[in-house]
Amino acid sequence: MPIKKGAEIAPAKGKLGVLLVGLGAVSTTFIAGVEAIKEDLAKPIGSLTQMGTVRLGKRTDNRVPAIKDFVPLADLGDLIFGAWDIFPDSAYDAAVHAGVLEKELLNKLRKPLQKIKPMTAVFDQTYVKRLSGTNVKTGKNKLELARQLIAEIAEFKRKHRCDRLVMIWAASTEIFMKPHAVHRDLKSFEQAMRDNHKAIAPSMIYAYAALKSGVPFANGAPNLTVDIAALMNLANQNGAPICGKDFKTGQTLMKTILAPGLKSRMLGLHGWYSTNILGNRDGEVLDDPDSFKTKEESKLSVLEYILQPEVYPQLYKDFSHVVRINYYPPRGDNKEGWDNIDIFGWLGYKMQIKIDFLCRDSILAAPIVLDLALFLDLAQRTGMKGVQEWLSFYFKSPMTAPGLYPEHDIFIQLMKLKNTLRHLRGEDLITHLGLEYYD
Ligand SMILES: NC(=O)c1ccc[n+]([C@@H]2O[C@H](COP(=O)([O-])OP(=O)(O)OC[C@H]3O[C@@H](n4cnc5c(N)ncnc54)[C@H](O)[C@@H]3O)[C@@H](O)[C@H]2O)c1
Repeated sequence: MPIKKGAEIAPAKGKLGVLLVGLGAVSTTFIAGVEAIKEDLAKPIGSLTQMGTVRLGKRTDNRVPAIKDFVPLADLGDLIFGAWDIFPDSAYDAAVHAGVLEKELLNKLRKPLQKIKPMTAVFDQTYVKRLSGTNVKTGKNKLELARQLIAEIAEFKRKHRCDRLVMIWAASTEIFMKPHAVHRDLKSFEQAMRDNHKAIAPSMIYAYAALKSGVPFANGAPNLTVDIAALMNLANQNGAPICGKDFKTGQTLMKTILAPGLKSRMLGLHGWYSTNILGNRDGEVLDDPDSFKTKEESKLSVLEYILQPEVYPQLYKDFSHVVRINYYPPRGDNKEGWDNIDIFGWLGYKMQIKIDFLCRDSILAAPIVLDLALFLDLAQRTGMKGVQEWLSFYFKSPMTAPGLYPEHDIFIQLMKLKNTLRHLRGEDLITHLGLEYYD
């Protein structure tokens, strides 16, 4: 049943444990960032929960509260971090290795970061070919590994006296997988875990453990993970909100900003060529064709959905869309994304747009992790469960109810997110009709 207008929201009291799968560039930039913000060493730029506002009522009402004052979100001081990784490095060492944040800043945060040591991971190289590590669990089958995770989740909650938990997948991209018959319901999924079936990837084992524990789960990578019937049903059963997949940063963020603009002015598209050079561990993993395929699928679908060639064949039928990622170590996390966009206007005259985005992937991803942790927790305290489509704003391949196409236009996604918050607080939705100003 949909959540009703002005629903009761349990207060955000006590500690919120944020469990991160993968303690790499994104996770450490997120954790270090929160610690820096708590110490007043930096500002939470890029975070809607920390900096965003929401307009209420008429434009003449002048009611524009900060989102964090409008809905009860966990305070940054109440966040406790935990993680799993296949490497035993502390969050401090992992952040130094990732090379995203400056040493000077990290040294100021050394104490809290060194305290965060990753738990042993559920890992299998079949699913991420370019990595191997030593900090890995063993168990007689995949169900047994899931049970170990469930025990760790409970122990983390107890030890750190957390009131609530959320889990976010920020680990490496797994190989491309399609839904399999064993994913159709929980019974066959659990049997497949017992049988060590190949269709159960490590990311699914984490998601299963979270949902079994009633913990909300977000998927920051393009892996299939929680996007299968068995786990969606488990989320509904156990009152756990889920969302995914693949954090919307960098080139795809630009695409979902620009493409709606071109479409809104009825400008046509012949082709969109996107290429990236990237030198971090994520880039290394994506250099493997099987992991890249997962990413490619996620990146390619965006334009088709926004431009709707079936509705506007004269403008968008058969446009060419190419996406490339090239692993180039000297760049580290400082990716360079080029786009060449061949468009056409009045009478079919051709024009070109070039974008050269000197971007920092993890700087764009970290505030997304923060917002998702806080919003998933809000959703659970409100009694929302299963797929949270209102969080599409943060993803390249938003999860939806089965049979529903995803909304990729970032402006529609933002309106959906803010209208959801208005709905939860019993406020009128904003339609932008505005006729009342001219009565
Ligand atoms: N940075 C971005 O802008 C961005 C955007 C969208 C998606 N992503 C995705 O987020 C994920 C993290 O990105 P990153 O830049 O931090 O990568 P990273 O390589 O720096 O970190 C990933 C970490 O996950 C660990 N890992 C791999 N498999 C694991 C497992 N089964 N259990 C526990 N740990 C495991 C690795 O050892 C590594 O430390 C990637 O899948 C990436 O594709 C990142």
